[in-house]
Amino acid sequence: MPRARASASPSLALIKYWGKQQGDMNVPATTSVAVGLHALRTITVVEGEPAAEGRPPGARVSIDGMEQSIAPFAAVIAALRERAQRNGSRYSEYDLTIDSNNTFPTAAGIASSSSGFAALAGSLAAFFELELSDRELSALARTGSGSAARSVFGGFTRFDSGSHEAYRIYPADHWPELRVLVAITDTARKPIGSRAAMERTRTTSPYYDAWVSDSFSLVDEAVAAIAGRDIERLGTAMRASYLRMTGSMLASDPPVIYWISQSISVIHLCDELRSNGIHAWETMDAGPQVKILTTAHDVPAIRTALEESSAVVHVLESEIGGEPSWRIG
Ligand code: PMV
Repeated sequence: MPRARASASPSLALIKYWGKQQGDMNVPATTSVAVGLHALRTITVVEGEPAAEGRPPGARVSIDGMEQSIAPFAAVIAALRERAQRNGSRYSEYDLTIDSNNTFPTAAGIASSSSGFAALAGSLAAFFELELSDRELSALARTGSGSAARSVFGGFTRFDSGSHEAYRIYPADHWPELRVLVAITDTARKPIGSRAAMERTRTTSPYYDAWVSDSFSLVDEAVAAIAGRDIERLGTAMRASYLRMTGSMLASDPPVIYWISQSISVIHLCDELRSNGIHAWETMDAGPQVKILTTAHDVPAIRTALEESSAVVHVLESEIGGEPSWRIG
């Protein structure tokens, strides 16, 4: 049975993508700047067999051993299959069995959709024996989720507003001391997915237009901070980005609230650590976990504080990296 495997890491946005341009699929309204989380992985295996005569080929997807509805994956599978048909791939009419596993909690705001859809696109490209450039793969992964366009690259990435694909701005070794700690506050699935929440924000939040127009100023600031390896400057821009994004979500109708009381405790803890001279710069996404950007030097102090806090269930640590890989077999 033909088989392919891919793995990819979540893309953590330092400057956030929140809101889509109307019309095109997952074309972002804001420019995002992100890093790949090297220690966290999604591993996806695709197997296939010829579809029965006279029946269109289908697909089944499981995540962490649980069978999924096909709807969220249909667009990426269709896009890769269409490409395979155009290229005359010998497997284009195969039924697919797709098994994906995460080394971290799924759907709890650690951007599992970014690594998930990047690994899905990569594994399908390998299965159908397609030779795609990273940028082509990024555009295909984007049809699953916007953040997946960034996960196709490791290191420091950027995804421009209105663009169909992301690109790398620096390799991971540009800033080897940089670290991310993930404070897991709750492993339950999130109450509302990012796709629906973004759309609700765009259509109902009186602050949405302000969020989008203001967001661009933070991009240049973050890119300059990365160029100069300036954690304080990067942390300041990063913090403003997630708080302003959250402001636009909170003003939606009904409001989009991903924060839980434990998240707020960790935000205050980071504030306290910073007032003691420790680089603990937090950010949040579409879930209750708090991700803390820091340097290798400050990891032990932050880890101790998080482990002592009753708000934190578990701490994950990662370097920047997350080069994806895919292969046949
Ligand atoms: O592309 P999605 O549906 O995974 O949405 C990503 C949204 C945020 O994680 C909140 C921000 C981002 O840029 O990753």
